[in-house]
Amino acid sequence: MFSEWTRIVSHPVWMVLTLILALVVRLQRRGSWTPRACPVRLRGKTAIVTGANTGIGKFIALDFAQRGARVILACRSEVRGTAAVRDIQQRTGNPNVHLRLVDTSSLESVRRFAARILEEEKELHILVNNAGASGLPRGITADGLDVTFATNHIGPFLLTSLLLDLLKKSAPARIVNVSSFNHQKGEVDFSHLRGENLSYHMDSVYNHTKLHNIIWTNELARRLKGTDVTANSLHPGTVVTEIMRHYNWLLRLIFNLVGFFFLKSSEEGAVSAIYCAVAEETQDINGKYFHSDCSLTLPAPAARDPAIWAKAYEHYERISANPRTADL
Ligand SMILES: NC(=O)c1ccc[n+]([C@@H]2O[C@H](COP(=O)([O-])OP(=O)(O)OC[C@H]3O[C@@H](n4cnc5c(N)ncnc54)[C@H](OP(=O)(O)O)[C@@H]3O)[C@@H](O)[C@H]2O)c1
Repeated sequence: MFSEWTRIVSHPVWMVLTLILALVVRLQRRGSWTPRACPVRLRGKTAIVTGANTGIGKFIALDFAQRGARVILACRSEVRGTAAVRDIQQRTGNPNVHLRLVDTSSLESVRRFAARILEEEKELHILVNNAGASGLPRGITADGLDVTFATNHIGPFLLTSLLLDLLKKSAPARIVNVSSFNHQKGEVDFSHLRGENLSYHMDSVYNHTKLHNIIWTNELARRLKGTDVTANSLHPGTVVTEIMRHYNWLLRLIFNLVGFFFLKSSEEGAVSAIYCAVAEETQDINGKYFHSDCSLTLPAPAARDPAIWAKAYEHYERISANPRTADL
């Protein structure tokens, strides 16, 4: 019975049909907007992309460099960051691509990074908060924060807050926060920030951080009204990157195999962030959430409630200022 079934599915007709289906699914995953067809140039503009040494972030940085921007790759590894800078410089011919080190899970590192940027940069027009991790083992940082929350949310929140005046001074400017469709499964419980009442089952902590990314973006956008600085969040798609590096080898293998046929490449995953950061049609859009095909879409109900945004933002401010002692 089993061998009969194997004979049927391994028939060339089925194989060709499967390949055609995979191709159709892949093509459908591409949105109508493409960076190549977007003529916007960024000469004279400065952009920061966090987590830009690999995956989605690297292709966002590559696109900005191709458009002539001064691009700062904000990475935690000197070796990986330097390799990415060299590669982007070579591929684009743009020498104005630089590495600045930051570990978003450490508030001290974020403060050091921001201080250096404020010292060195006269202007900042684009900030893409892309760095993020999924499947990290449970842990508490030196600041007393849950490690996934610190990496994916509180670090990026503090980094953005410290650069906000520079962005306002450089307006028009755009802040782009890379969230995830998985925020739909997230919950808002501020005690999570210190790792309390937090389950790591099925990586639910990642989903919570991605929900907080959107809540933060929406309140930030509300506060930025009238400044000509915008803040939007997005889902990049399900993208074959190194995001699965903390999972076991079997899950990684399945993800990569399925991904090869059905999921987005890193280059495709960068598209919705590039759209938010550079497209003319998005220059006045503020406080919205974009789907991976670049369409505007509604986030989960918890991310649509202005009362939650305001309360959450105050929590983020307090906890990034006094991580150990702030009331949650
Ligand atoms: N891939 C997907 O399917 C998917 C779906 C939805 C959302 N996203 C989001 O897309 C963003 C980019 O992810 P990716 O898929 O491109 O994953 P990736 O290939 O693993 O890249 C993640 C980047 O973030 C950096 N990073 C991680 N922790 C950091 C820290 N503590 N400090 C500084 N940088 C840190 C990594 O640096 P190192 O290389 O040094 O570790 C790397 O450059 C993330 O925010 C992720 O949540 C991805």
